[in-house]
Parts: sequence; C-alpha cells; structure tokens
Amino acid sequence: MHDFKFKNKDLYCENVKVSDVAKAVGTPFYLYSHNTLVDHLTKIQRAFAKVNPIVCFAMKSNGNLSVLKTLANYGAGFDIVSMGELKKALLIGADPKKIVFASVGKTEDEIAIALKAGILFFNVESVPELEEINRIAKKMGKVAPVALRINPDVAAATHNFITTGTLKNKFGIDLTSTRRLLKEQKKYKNIKITGLHIHIGSQIVTAKPFINAIKKVIEFLESLRSEGIRIEYLDIGGGMGIIYKDENPQTAQNYSDAILPYLEKTGLKIVMEPGRFIVGNAGIFVTKVLYLKDNGFKKFLIVDGGMNDLIRPSLYDAYHEIVAVKASKAKIIKVDVVGPICESGDFLGKARELPALKKNDLLAVLSAGAYGFVMSSNYNVRCRVPEVLVKGKEFAVTKKRETYDDLLRNETIPTFLK
Ligand code: LLP
Repeated sequence: MHDFKFKNKDLYCENVKVSDVAKAVGTPFYLYSHNTLVDHLTKIQRAFAKVNPIVCFAMKSNGNLSVLKTLANYGAGFDIVSMGELKKALLIGADPKKIVFASVGKTEDEIAIALKAGILFFNVESVPELEEINRIAKKMGKVAPVALRINPDVAAATHNFITTGTLKNKFGIDLTSTRRLLKEQKKYKNIKITGLHIHIGSQIVTAKPFINAIKKVIEFLESLRSEGIRIEYLDIGGGMGIIYKDENPQTAQNYSDAILPYLEKTGLKIVMEPGRFIVGNAGIFVTKVLYLKDNGFKKFLIVDGGMNDLIRPSLYDAYHEIVAVKASKAKIIKVDVVGPICESGDFLGKARELPALKKNDLLAVLSAGAYGFVMSSNYNVRCRVPEVLVKGKEFAVTKKRETYDDLLRNETIPTFLK
C-alpha cells in the first residue's frame, strides 16, 4: 500500500497536493507519507505477531528524524551502523533496548558510546571486533551483549552490490569461526553472546533465500544445543523487496507464512531489521523540468534533480517509476530523464514514455523513500534538498534545504596560500 495517488488530474500524497508542496518549498525535494510508513510497519508487526518480534528499522535506508520518530511512536526500534545513527536514535527518544548495532568497522568511540547507552546488542562481524569490544567493555567495567553475525554463505538473487550473505562479501563470521567463538566464549569475560544475526542482502523478492538462510541457522543452532550452547535472540536482518516496476514481492504475510514456522521452532526472541520494506514506497522525489532537448537522435528531459540527489539509477541501474505530477494531454514521447550533473551516468530514468512536458512541469520519481536522501551528496556543489513529511492534510518541512553557507561553513583556505 502507498498513499501517493492521483485524484482527478493531480498527484496527491495522502490529502496534500504534491504541486502545493512544490509551490511552498521549491524543487527538488523528497516527500514522505506518514500513513504509508505506519501501514508498512504495522503490516510486519501484525504478520509476525505470534513471535512478537522487535522490529528494528534499518536507519541507513532513511535517517530523517521525523520518519524515525513516526516509527518509534508505533513501537519500532532501530538497526544502526554508526555513531551518527546512534545519536539520531537517542535524540528521538528511542528505547536503547530496541537498538542493535551492525557494521564491519565499529570504532572504539562508537563501541564505548553504544555500550554506555545500553543497547540491546552489537551485531559483531569479525573475531578482532569481538576482541576489541571485550577490551573496551573491560575498561568500562561492563559486559557487552553481542550477537554474532554469521555469514550463512547463501546467495540472495539480488544486485551484486547489495548481496551480503556469501563468503565473497566482507560481512559476518563464517560458521566454523562462529562455533569456535561460542565454545570459547568464557575467554571473553566482558562479552555475553546473546544472539545470532543474519542479513543476506537487500531487495529480495521471494522467500526462498530467507528460508534457506534460516534453515541453515536452525541446523547450526541445533548442533550448538547438542553441545550445550544456548542463546536468546535470533536477528533475521532485513532485505524484503518492494515494487519498483513489475516485481511481485512477497507481502509481509507471505513472508511470515513462509518463515514463521521456522522461527517459532527456534523458541528464540526474534529481531528483524527491515528498511526498504517500510520506507521505500513511502517516499517520492519531486523534480521539475528545465528543458526538453532533442538532439535529432534522442530526446532528453533535463530536470533540476540529479544523481547527487538520487543515486540509485546511476549506481545500481535501479528502475524508479517516473510520473508527471499533473496528468497531461501532451503527446507521449520517449525520453531519457536526466539531471544537470556533468556525468553521462546522471540519469533518473532511460527511454521512458512520458508526455512532452514543458519547463517548470513537475515530475515525481516514485519509490524513492529508501536509500534516496541518505545517499545524496553535494557533488557539483549542489545543496542537499529538503525532506517533507505529510500526515493527512498537513505537511511540514522536516529538513530544510541546505544553503550555500552550509556548504562553505567547514572550508578554510590555509594562510600559506594567501
Ligand atoms: N540489516 C543490515 C545488517 C543491513 O546491512 C541492511 C541493509 C538492512 C538491515 C536493511 O536492508 P533492507 O531491508 O533495506 O533491504 N543502497 C542499496 C541498499 C543497501 C542495503 C545495505 N544494507 C540500495 O539502494 O538498494
């Protein structure tokens, strides 16, 4: 479900006309729907209610404070990967006991501050990291709760850049080392291994790879039990795919039907880390037409938003549906929708059938709520765009457009150049 729909000829987000937001904040901008965020979160919570999981929203997919606050208001915790994300979670008043911390490269400061905050557990990705957490916890007179992220060596049938659960990837600990760590855990006096964690990749549209990974974990758990080793939590990561074009992804209910029996069998407390599923279709990116260019060979719709604002098409060749914000009777033409950045790879969509729009007409790039704003940059010295949240009839700018002063604030020219 998502709450971006045409009423008569205008695209609305819930009860707000997208073009009215454009009038108020200028273009480009990201626009999120409160209702859609809540709907997606509650769909997961309901489908998995039997195991009452802690749903830790993967903040890396969208770190907007108001999005986070919305999800926390409805019971979400957070999957974080950095000090910045920890600060954001604490700032919106997230329950530390619903925060899990992944990342292959946690620094000493990050570990100490997360330990002080009393997070649920660290998802540990290597033996040296476990040793480091043990050392820091000892120094602080604490026992650090950890889950070992295992690399189940399962292919996830998704884009190469976002598959994570095979031994070719840098993530997680191989099963042999995990077993050894669990057996030798007494060696680490300031660590309590409370769980196992898997995350096999992202934008996975069928349950099969998840089932394969979970089955592997269960087999592993059973063999551990026979050796007298017990844990409390199983964190099954994120990765559930969404519709960008013509995918037919599992719903939360299908996903639960497929894996809940396995989860129940473990008897463990379940943690989930969905990102894209919750926020992907809860956001759009709105941009306006600058020029329609025809070079005799091809037509280009040149818009004011580019790869620095939404990099997924350029980076992963990802498809995002693009629609005119106001339905137009102009004849349909085939165009590449491109940004102003000085790179051939700067496009939002290629060979799209769109009406022959004119200067200042608005376009909406759909399904842009996940890995959109968070991956944006200042490339070409462009200001990052605002993020706007809609709730019913209301909307608010939740993050202002950057100014050129913001961009220059941290730069200085050393005196030896003067
Ligand atoms: N948990 C861990 C440990 C992760 O690494 C990720 C995503 C998630 C959860 C959330 O996965 P999701 O439910 O969103 O699939 N930038 C790429 C996606 C990178 C995913 C990184 N890890 C994209 O735009 O497609």
